[in-house]
Amino acid sequence: MVTADAGLPDTLRELPAWTPDAIELADLELLLAGVYRPLAGFLGSFDTAMVIAGGRLADGTPWPVPVTLAVPKELTAHERVVLQDPEGLPLAVLDVAEVWQDPTSQGWRLAGTLEPLRAPAHGPFHRLRRRPDEIEPHEGNVLAVATREPLHRKQLGQLRQLAERLDARVLVLPLLGGGHDEALVRALLAVRKELPEGTQVIPVPLPLRGGEGAAERDLRLRSHVAAAYGATHLLAEEDVEGTAIPVAVPEPWAYDADVEVWRPVARIEPDHVQAELTPEQLGELLDRGEPIPDWFTPPAVAAELAVARPPKHERGLTVFFTGLSSSGKSTVARGLSDALIERGGRTVSLLDGDVVRRLLSAGLTFSRADRDLNIRRIGFVATEITRHGGVAICAPIAPYAATRAEVRRMVSAAGDFLLVHVATPLEECERRDTKGLYAKARAGLIPEFTGISDPYEEPDDADLVLDTSRMTPDEAVARVLGLLENGGWVRPA
Ligand code: ADX
Repeated sequence: MVTADAGLPDTLRELPAWTPDAIELADLELLLAGVYRPLAGFLGSFDTAMVIAGGRLADGTPWPVPVTLAVPKELTAHERVVLQDPEGLPLAVLDVAEVWQDPTSQGWRLAGTLEPLRAPAHGPFHRLRRRPDEIEPHEGNVLAVATREPLHRKQLGQLRQLAERLDARVLVLPLLGGGHDEALVRALLAVRKELPEGTQVIPVPLPLRGGEGAAERDLRLRSHVAAAYGATHLLAEEDVEGTAIPVAVPEPWAYDADVEVWRPVARIEPDHVQAELTPEQLGELLDRGEPIPDWFTPPAVAAELAVARPPKHERGLTVFFTGLSSSGKSTVARGLSDALIERGGRTVSLLDGDVVRRLLSAGLTFSRADRDLNIRRIGFVATEITRHGGVAICAPIAPYAATRAEVRRMVSAAGDFLLVHVATPLEECERRDTKGLYAKARAGLIPEFTGISDPYEEPDDADLVLDTSRMTPDEAVARVLGLLENGGWVRPA
């Protein structure tokens, strides 16, 4: 735990400070901005139980999702806690009204009202953000679309049709918190000219929450957010009970191949209906770097789709080798790196286990905690390389499945991830004993040596398994290259 100090009033300097996770920070911003009204703070145990059981707060007000704040146990002894952003800027003070434990996870929660300190003031497109009280009230109907996806020609047509029917102004709420917020906002700004005059675009931080019934609860939450911004109707594919404002479900539209426009299916001759691109087909076109047809979406939107999902041969990739010491990880990783550099067209960074431990992880031991920290550091660097479209090749032992899974999750938010298990049997690794460490470990000179006196959890999620006792290093490299070529990450030589 750290104590907040950046620019805090003297009276708050002594308070403990806590950085909530991404969803909680988004909740905090929406609570402070009044988007979550009538909620004034994080929920307590009773409200949370009522929301989960019946979609209502304890006082009967409909509310779709638990808005709670998880904290470590040491934070539960305080009456006031400063909530800060990941860079340590204090955002609000929580006046703790209840300390409670989640009945399922046993994790600690703090409930209470919030005193704002400063509005979160950065992030791309920040100037487009608005608080609901900054919106000029509108006399007539307002039709909102609150979306994590761009609007293609079909949705644009449906939106225009519904807006006309309802005689409504249009409000587009890009929901931030996915992987490609900027591309989403740009794609939605790009189609503003296809929407009625006066259409507003206001980004709102609203990451998708998981769990049972997530889609329905998300729709209800979107309806509350849209209502807070003055919407009278929310456009959605399906209606559900318990929304804050009515859901407007568009009639089915399709592309009329005869006259080359999108329009209501009811007005198209059946044999002129052109099948829509499925999400899978769209994904395959993007993966191969092929053009997205103009009949499907405007070119400016297609360009943003390609930013969010670049062609595979340009997309960032982490190839993560795991295996025992002397299993051949470094040799194969170096061979792969050389082969990719020789072919060209890709930038490559090699994060070898022993090399990382000399600089990035210098000073760390081989305890479980330090090994995990070492792997997380490698994962952090690999994620950044991947985000920038490079190839990161990592080759640590990485003995723990949970930590490898964590790295897979981190990297996958930025690009692609492949796990290669170098499954050379222990006897062979020990026979090679390239650094003489197995002999020392057997002699009791190195405690906690992986495979001898420390665990190695075999992966069950490897994308490729290599046993280097059964193939030459060149063959092993060729196998990995084959995987990359077949998957489209590198073009065949
Ligand atoms: S990891 O467990 O944190 O992934 P890492 O790949 O960085 O390990 O480092 C492993 C290398 O450190 C081995 O190749 C070996 O040369 C050396 N090493 C020194 N002590 C140990 C130990 N106790 N267990 C495993 N490797 C060790």
